[in-house]
Amino acid sequence: MLRIGIVGITGRMGRTVLEVAREVPGIEVVAGLLRAGRDPADVAASLPGGLALTPDLPAFLRSIDVAIDFSHPDLTAVAARAAAQAGVPFVSGTTGLTEPHRRALEEAAERIPVVHAANFSLGAAVLLRLVPELARTLADWDIELIERHHRAKRDAPSGTANALAQAILAARETVVPRIVHGRGPGEALRRTGELGIHAVRAGGEVGRHTVLLAAEDEALELTHWAQSRRAYARGALEAARRLRGRPPGSYSFGELLFG
Ligand SMILES: NC(=O)c1ccc[n+]([C@@H]2O[C@H](COP(=O)([O-])OP(=O)(O)OC[C@H]3O[C@@H](n4cnc5c(N)ncnc54)[C@H](OP(=O)(O)O)[C@@H]3O)[C@@H](O)[C@H]2O)c1
Repeated sequence: MLRIGIVGITGRMGRTVLEVAREVPGIEVVAGLLRAGRDPADVAASLPGGLALTPDLPAFLRSIDVAIDFSHPDLTAVAARAAAQAGVPFVSGTTGLTEPHRRALEEAAERIPVVHAANFSLGAAVLLRLVPELARTLADWDIELIERHHRAKRDAPSGTANALAQAILAARETVVPRIVHGRGPGEALRRTGELGIHAVRAGGEVGRHTVLLAAEDEALELTHWAQSRRAYARGALEAARRLRGRPPGSYSFGELLFG
């Protein structure tokens, strides 16, 4: 049995991981890390029984085989450092990380296996693999990324849009594209090599990413959309299963799935 602990168990994704894990054989969620100051008794009232809920990181890590984190960048960094000390593999889906947060994950990866992915859905992982090939093959086509998410999302553009943009930049070796966020007054004209990213925030949209490649007379559009957070939860649980037993290091979700 793989014992999972969830960092951010009170959030939308934390609760979804908990729900999906009940359908996956060989996996059990046994613990949840709460943010400092939250009363475990209050939280327990809205979650299934039998979970060890605590804001105490060492206690949380003692009872689990792998940590799955969908929380806030500051908590991600602290939890990753503690997981490294405790020797617990770390799966993180938290987005909006800045340089110090990424560094904390990299340092943790010197001692434990770590996977961070902005999108744990299978379809998005495949899209991320396809995009460099398309960007290289259609080398002089314009590329724009359009992402849509629910109104409560805290970061923009999405981590997935950033990951797609980085994959495109790396693939376009000869042209150095300039990233343009949105397109407002004074920026209407598209310049050669630009990579536009457009973030839409509306309603309850779970997450949709479109890669638009366009030439003068034709265009190609690939869209992935998550119809439920369960897609991300299933992927994160699969990543946890595949991460256990690996040597310390920083793994991509694609590497764990297809490597
Ligand atoms: N990689 C993927 O596939 C994927 C998919 C969906 C979402 N995400 C990302 O996962 C993260 C969580 O998303 P969500 O929709 O579940 O968010 P959410 O519903 O807002 O939940 C956030 C969780 O983090 C905790 N938290 C928030 N701010 C905190 C802080 N300053 N310090 C410590 N803990 C804090 C919350 O605790 P309280 O309840 O106490 O506030 C809650 O447990 C986001 O970064 C989101 O972009 C990733």
